[in-house]
Amino acid sequence: MKQLIDELYINNTLSKEKILMLLNNLNEENTQYLYMKANELRLHNYNNKVYMRGLIEFTNHCKNDCVYCGIRKHNKNADRYRLSKEDIINCCKEGYRLGYRTFVLQGGEDLYFTDDKIVDIVSSIKSLFDDVAVTLSIGEKSYESYRKYYDAGADRYLLRHETNSKQLYNSLHPNMSYENRIECLYNLKKIGYQVGAGFMVGLPNQTNEDYTKDLIFLKELQPHMVGIGPFIPQKDTPLSMEQSGTVDKTCIMLSIVRLLLPKVLLPATTALGSLSNKGREKGLKAGGNVVMPNLSPTNVREKYALYDGKICTGDEAAHCRKCIENRIRSAGFEVDMSRGDHIDFSAPIV
Ligand code: SAM
Ligand code: FES
Repeated sequence: MKQLIDELYINNTLSKEKILMLLNNLNEENTQYLYMKANELRLHNYNNKVYMRGLIEFTNHCKNDCVYCGIRKHNKNADRYRLSKEDIINCCKEGYRLGYRTFVLQGGEDLYFTDDKIVDIVSSIKSLFDDVAVTLSIGEKSYESYRKYYDAGADRYLLRHETNSKQLYNSLHPNMSYENRIECLYNLKKIGYQVGAGFMVGLPNQTNEDYTKDLIFLKELQPHMVGIGPFIPQKDTPLSMEQSGTVDKTCIMLSIVRLLLPKVLLPATTALGSLSNKGREKGLKAGGNVVMPNLSPTNVREKYALYDGKICTGDEAAHCRKCIENRIRSAGFEVDMSRGDHIDFSAPIV
């Protein structure tokens, strides 16, 4: 297996058959070797920096019904909320004061937030702070809508493809189209966003063949960011009785993505930190280089309950900022509060 890992490390690509062989045969020893090689490529491209993004979860209303998700439309127990424009701007002001230079606005697909409202929010943030990046993560929209947000100043867009196995995708996403999701990602790239795709790990019935498809798809798409997190059941969803994904499998996926896309911005996700106390640190050691602490007001944090056991729901933004900084440092990394653009979008060094 070490030979395959070396091949991946040198060429940043591997055939479908070889990826599957690697996934089927990883043992403890070569998993550690995989992490080490991923870490080398992260160091080569981004040193030991970990980029910080302030996450603002601004609405938990959603028109979709993804079976794994706690804010799905049919969850009658979800306590719904929306932040006002003023609330969102206040989160950004507090974040800016704490040093954040990227704000990630995430929410369910909430029709209340029309294109005009999103454009107004994005342009207000960009006119208030001239040195911040705005990332949107608000689901599937038309090419024209994405274009409007981009013209208003949005820099980046996160839209996980969730799984690249069409059959699995369809079983998890009633009344949604796998083809449309993929098309959205290509549209975002065409417009000029820094684009984030990604998938969940440990979904019911997800196999190594499915992960292989995810990895090959990411290599083809060439996104700038990749969000990979474990599936964690949420008590009010149809998958409430299923098993969570594991930290180890998630870290293996992070490492392989680092080797396939050496320059990618790769978060150690909150879901990974929610599975285990040292989950995020393990994700960073496996090749991750981004964390996304929560800037949402504490009174709504618990309501954005995508899965059970989410961390940091009671902690003020300033507390999370300090806590995560300590964790990153203790794990041997350096906190970087800059915008942290993908290398291909960074200003050339003169
Ligand atoms: N609506 C937007 C979208 O669809 O991209 C953004 C919000 S959505 C709630 C954010 C991400 O949460 C999804 O891409 C999904 O991967 C993740 N998520 C939802 N439910 C989850 C669960 N039970 N466990 C782990 N991750 C989950
Ligand atoms: Fe929020 Fe540690 S990051 S309390």
